[in-house]
Amino acid sequence: MYMWHFYCPNIIYGEGAINFIEKIKGEKCFIVTDKIIEKLGYLKILTDSLEKYGKNYEVFNETVPDPHEEDVMKGKEKCNKYNPDLIIALGGGSVIDTAKCIWAMYEYPEYTLNNIDPFSDQLYDFANKARLVAIPTTSGTGSEVTWAAVISRFQDEVWRKMSLPHMSLVPTFAIVDPVFPKGMPPDLTVNTAFDAISHSIEAYGSMWRNEFSNAMAIKAIELVFKYLPIAYKDGNNEEARDYLHQAATMAGLAFGNSQAHLAHAMGHSWGGVFHTQHGQSVGLFLRYITQYCLNAPGEPNESIQLYSNLAKKLGWANWDDDDKKAAYSVIDKLRELQKEVNFTSNLKDLGISKGDFENNLDKLVSLFYQDPSGTMAPRIPNKEDVKRLYQYAYEGKDIDF
Ligand SMILES: [Fe+2]
Repeated sequence: MYMWHFYCPNIIYGEGAINFIEKIKGEKCFIVTDKIIEKLGYLKILTDSLEKYGKNYEVFNETVPDPHEEDVMKGKEKCNKYNPDLIIALGGGSVIDTAKCIWAMYEYPEYTLNNIDPFSDQLYDFANKARLVAIPTTSGTGSEVTWAAVISRFQDEVWRKMSLPHMSLVPTFAIVDPVFPKGMPPDLTVNTAFDAISHSIEAYGSMWRNEFSNAMAIKAIELVFKYLPIAYKDGNNEEARDYLHQAATMAGLAFGNSQAHLAHAMGHSWGGVFHTQHGQSVGLFLRYITQYCLNAPGEPNESIQLYSNLAKKLGWANWDDDDKKAAYSVIDKLRELQKEVNFTSNLKDLGISKGDFENNLDKLVSLFYQDPSGTMAPRIPNKEDVKRLYQYAYEGKDIDF
């Protein structure tokens, strides 16, 4: 027998979920957000709600996209001074990740980011001073339900994205209210949704997959494929927004309890060098790395079995189709969806010159191996293959190796 955990916050979802804040114990709230969220009026929705229920709050709005260590430390200082009994993260993945680290360093003021270590026993004694409420404003990162934070540190002349995982960093509550992602422009809607697609498709193929994560992954894939084109064409479609938001959280549960893999390892490295938005880079690599896993030599190829099953369950292939044919229909579906929502499908079209790309290729390969995300992939590429994966993704070529 083996033992496995399913890590999951209390999830409150659907229209009006924000009002659940009344029921959450805590009178002194430290809000972690950013200036854009404030400008869009979302912070006011939250603070109005807190005021209505007689809760005090202080706002830290200095979170930035791809947060750097220094930004997180600023938040830590402010939080420790305020001494809250509730921390509320309102924003996208960068905000929620920043809040998770602030939370850890509030519980243990002597900590730096180096102490957030998946093997730390001390960190299991947690949430004694405050609990964390995560309120996502985009539909994609899934950070509201996962146990890792990604923070950048400048090291060896490059911004390295560090994954900081610990089971205790799972937020206590996730409030998944579609009022927040409603205002996302079409390109952000698409890029963040492709992050969610990558979470679910990678979680489904990862070596750590399990029946709980599979259940979440399959449903998330189904919902994103159905509702993304609708939300892309009509951002005000409430049903599409609500289901996309739920799907992103399910995808978060899927990869939080399994693992993302090669698309995230390639995407993190790419983002560290060229600063492409996270969802856009991982979503771009997803098609190439899925092909790469399906092309794995040797029998049986588990990825073929898995993706054939997925395609058949979702009605993308017939139940009597040959497994290989059915599995590769996932690639066709990804390609179709990318086309339908104008998602950039190769690196060249991101506007990176060939010279710039080639000059950084060795750095990308080296960063790829420093990223722990890739370790649970069903097929681990050698250096030469990683290089070729980047080259093929640059040109938009199908993976034939
Ligand atoms: Fe992601």
